[in-house]
Amino acid sequence: MHGDLPPGTPTGGPEAGLDRLDAMGIQVWVPRLPVPHGPGDGAADVIEVPAVGAPPCPAPGLYGDWETLEREASVCRRCALHETRTQVVFGVGHRAARWMFIGEAPGEQEDLQGEPFVGRAGQLLTEMIKAVGLSREEVYIANVLKCRPPRNRDPLPEEAAACESYLLSQVALVKPALIIAVGRIAAQHLLKTSTPIGKLRGVVHDYRSIPLVVTYHPAYLLRSQTEKRRAWEDLKLARKTVAARA
Ligand code: URA
Repeated sequence: MHGDLPPGTPTGGPEAGLDRLDAMGIQVWVPRLPVPHGPGDGAADVIEVPAVGAPPCPAPGLYGDWETLEREASVCRRCALHETRTQVVFGVGHRAARWMFIGEAPGEQEDLQGEPFVGRAGQLLTEMIKAVGLSREEVYIANVLKCRPPRNRDPLPEEAAACESYLLSQVALVKPALIIAVGRIAAQHLLKTSTPIGKLRGVVHDYRSIPLVVTYHPAYLLRSQTEKRRAWEDLKLARKTVAARA
């Protein structure tokens, strides 16, 4: 934590985060010319995404307290993934965080360790969190799916639907000031759209009255290092959005 600052209050100068990203284990490539990357190009345009179904919480199917939610999720058998998982990967972090990161689904390491984003991509996500002046303990991290799909295949629609009330409950209980959708699949699931990630980035969406910013999945950034600067633009947009809600 940073002194008396509430969780989610970023520290460090405006470009300090990019330096931190540069310090990560992958090479940084800086474009010579600005690269357009979709509507808004970093400006805080707001796209209204209609709320799907119920208001945040409480609502039928949602859990109103952490204890019940975590207990129910830990023994979930709503879809076939319970047959192949090692354990349920519920979520981790500050339960009153201002920043909430939502990824796709646990991978091998997450399935083994029971915590989201702890593999190689997870280490990069941790650096992205540090880049905005925060620690993993100050944010909340969860996934669309709580169980690992075999061989890390994409989540099936029925799996995401079966798992949705757990995530909705987590969002309703954390009440974050901002959600970051980590990667295409999380973004498309949360926003109920098939729009490509390139078009979802660079604007602030509305997710059940919570601002939502889309960024690339760290696993993609590990493979495509040239996109790291764009991810930094996403994080700056997120930081600006949270600051506006102080
Ligand atoms: N990728 C995700 O989307 N989530 C994790 O927890 C790990 C990898």
